[in-house]
Amino acid sequence: MKQSNVIIVGSGIAALQLANKLPKDLNVIILTKKEMTAGNSYLAQGGVAAAVAPSDDPYFHYLDTMEAGGHHNNSEAVLEITKKAPELIKGLWQSGCRFDEDGEGKLLLGMEGAHSEKRIVHSGGDATGKHMVDFLLSNLDANISIEQSTFVYELILDSEGTRCIGVKAKCMDGTNETYLAPHVVLATGGCGQVFAFTSNADTTTGDGMALAYRAGAELADMEFVQFHPTLLYVDGKTRGLISEAVRGEGGVLVTAEGKRIMDGIHPLKDLAPRHIVSQTIYDYSRRGIQIFLDITTIDDFSSRFPTISKLCSEHGIDIDKGLIPVVPGSHFIMGGVKTDLHGRTSISGLYAIGEAACTGIHGANRLASNSLLEGMFVGGNLADWINSHQVANIEEASIMDIPNQVAKREARMCILNQTVFDGELPDMALLKETMMDRTGIVRTKELLTLQNEWLAQFSLEEWLEARLDHLQPSELNRLFMYITASLITQSALDRTESRGGHYRKDFPHEDNANWMKKQIIHQRKNVK
Ligand code: SIN
Repeated sequence: MKQSNVIIVGSGIAALQLANKLPKDLNVIILTKKEMTAGNSYLAQGGVAAAVAPSDDPYFHYLDTMEAGGHHNNSEAVLEITKKAPELIKGLWQSGCRFDEDGEGKLLLGMEGAHSEKRIVHSGGDATGKHMVDFLLSNLDANISIEQSTFVYELILDSEGTRCIGVKAKCMDGTNETYLAPHVVLATGGCGQVFAFTSNADTTTGDGMALAYRAGAELADMEFVQFHPTLLYVDGKTRGLISEAVRGEGGVLVTAEGKRIMDGIHPLKDLAPRHIVSQTIYDYSRRGIQIFLDITTIDDFSSRFPTISKLCSEHGIDIDKGLIPVVPGSHFIMGGVKTDLHGRTSISGLYAIGEAACTGIHGANRLASNSLLEGMFVGGNLADWINSHQVANIEEASIMDIPNQVAKREARMCILNQTVFDGELPDMALLKETMMDRTGIVRTKELLTLQNEWLAQFSLEEWLEARLDHLQPSELNRLFMYITASLITQSALDRTESRGGHYRKDFPHEDNANWMKKQIIHQRKNVK
């Protein structure tokens, strides 16, 4: 049993921002299931949105975020984050994180879909996430210890089941370990891997959402999945992201014959909100027509986009020919563990930040380059909150009592679950394919019902109750994907309207008049 003041599960931007901002006298442990850089943050290309240009204003950033989010956003949260964004960027820049600058030392700003201004701060051309993660990692102090290849598979609640006091994890050597702390933070990223086509790292299997749901926390907005329009598509598989910044620099979507497909679809054409562009490409691909990103008008493409150029060359695409084959794929989930702007969930002592969380900032569809921003913003807010609550009596009482609480809880768990559930889990490839086909870019009641029924045969309720100590990391990945896929499908079935990333062909319009506008919440009752 290991004790610390704060446990952070995951290692992306939100986790690292939190770790860097926490007071140095706190013992912090980061648990991550692979290497520190194996998540989505490291892959982020586009950048961080902030109204730093003289012609821009945080209020314009606010308006763009609300519009892209289908006005499903928490508007106060959006006001707060867009106001704070320039300060967050400047703080990081001044502390030594390098962003791309012009010859006069001014930040170079890119353009992306649904933004009304150039406001995308980037680094290394198209390697923003990698540069930021490397910078934040290099700044970690000695109070932060890191355990890699450590798979957190269970949250531990106190004997009343109301407060989170730790986690159980599978360690690198195959043993199980218990970690205890009064503050447990889920920064596990999203669940892009639940879909066959994805831009996401292979670590994104919905772990935080599944852990929180099993423990009885509230989840919200799980139907809102963003499909990025342009993933490199070679030999029937997606091979990574082609940043929207490419279209921001003048790239356009065309057929093999050179017909521009976004003409007449939306006033912003190729820079329309992501769901519109994704649905348009999807329509063509359903008819067997391959769509390409035409980059012939972009000068010196390989200097501006070195990561993308390398990706293309690794997969045999000659960028000098000017055409990159693309398809849409899952990129981001706007839903997740419901939190406030300090990352607090419905269970005390349990927090969620980054893509694992649903703060309401992104609404029904995240505006491009608002995700690294959210990670920095909420990660920093949570550090402030923990700092101001670290010596409260409740924390001290809990930490003193923790081993006792765990023992009591274990005893209860053993009585309640005498047998280990040995049910089947869905085949991973089949789960991903069926999610893509039935709970993907275009949804209908028939498709969603089919998927719901298919998922139901694997006994979700039993899996939610089961002890997991004996499962291997690969089985835990499958289980967490299964739980997350079930929540997404159920929510998508419940929302009988179209909004942002959630498109129902049978309900093609927004329904502003009734309850649909509200959040769909998932929460297990009577968690044992
Ligand atoms: C991109 O570079 O297109 C992705 C940026 C984002 O998802 O915010």
